[in-house]
Amino acid sequence: PLTTTGDLVTRAAAARSAVASFNIITLEHVEAVVAGAESAHTPVVLQVSENAVRFRGGRLLPLARAAAAAAEQAAVPVALHLDHVQDDALLHQAVDAGFSSVMYDAARLPYEENLAATRAAVDWAHAHGLWIEAELGQIGGKHGRPPLDAHAPGARTDPEEARAFVADSGVDALAVAVGSAHAMTTRTAALDHALLKRLSAALDVPLVLHGSSGVPDGELTAAIAGGITKVNIGTALNIALTGAIRDFLADRPEAVDPRGYLTVAREAMTRTVARTLRTLGAPTA
Ligand code: G3H
Ligand code: ZN
Repeated sequence: PLTTTGDLVTRAAAARSAVASFNIITLEHVEAVVAGAESAHTPVVLQVSENAVRFRGGRLLPLARAAAAAAEQAAVPVALHLDHVQDDALLHQAVDAGFSSVMYDAARLPYEENLAATRAAVDWAHAHGLWIEAELGQIGGKHGRPPLDAHAPGARTDPEEARAFVADSGVDALAVAVGSAHAMTTRTAALDHALLKRLSAALDVPLVLHGSSGVPDGELTAAIAGGITKVNIGTALNIALTGAIRDFLADRPEAVDPRGYLTVAREAMTRTVARTLRTLGAPTA
């Protein structure tokens, strides 16, 4: 059934585990995430990034409607989350499209501008019943430099700054920069667990790990023990998808029916989802 991200994060926090939030791009992603969650008997979040909406010609609804239908029919609770939103026009479509939560991404901006933009997004989100996550990366622009992308490998979130940011913005959850980076194709990220411990002690909202595809299993479980409550995963699914299609077509250069390679791609993604959920040790549905 369709549920809310806020509920899944609350339940994960109570169980000292984390809810996995997978980026979906195609219908096969949607089906694979739901099938993987069902086989692991675990709730899950389907997240659509602003980039994925751009890939769909700027249209949110076709993929969102498919995701909502899959969630409603799923044997486990499934929530819909809008990811890395920079465009207010997209934020404003979230509720009607069936999303219970958004991640508002103004982390590219200097601190004061990030705070002002995030606070405005929080006000809108809360007025419309949405759970909202935001992001704080490197101490931004303090030395006349633009801030590092929050998920550049060197970026780090400062605990004191994060405490002020959460208090002043009113966000429901915070994405923190502790050593992961987006779009890694090797699982070689080393997380700053000492910093995560300080962030967890300084903040009373759930913490979110982005760029989790590049984080090894042991680092992931340690991060969850250290206070990460939502784990965002995108690239790992695309590695599985593309690898399966590449292998399938290499063996069958004459193939034309997409159902052949999309079937193996979907199965590969399903295995990745199920394996990831077991690693996270999320509460069973
Ligand atoms: O918001 C999405 C995640 O941060 C995905 O990152 O593709 O590196 O796993 P990833
Ligand atoms: Zn991300």
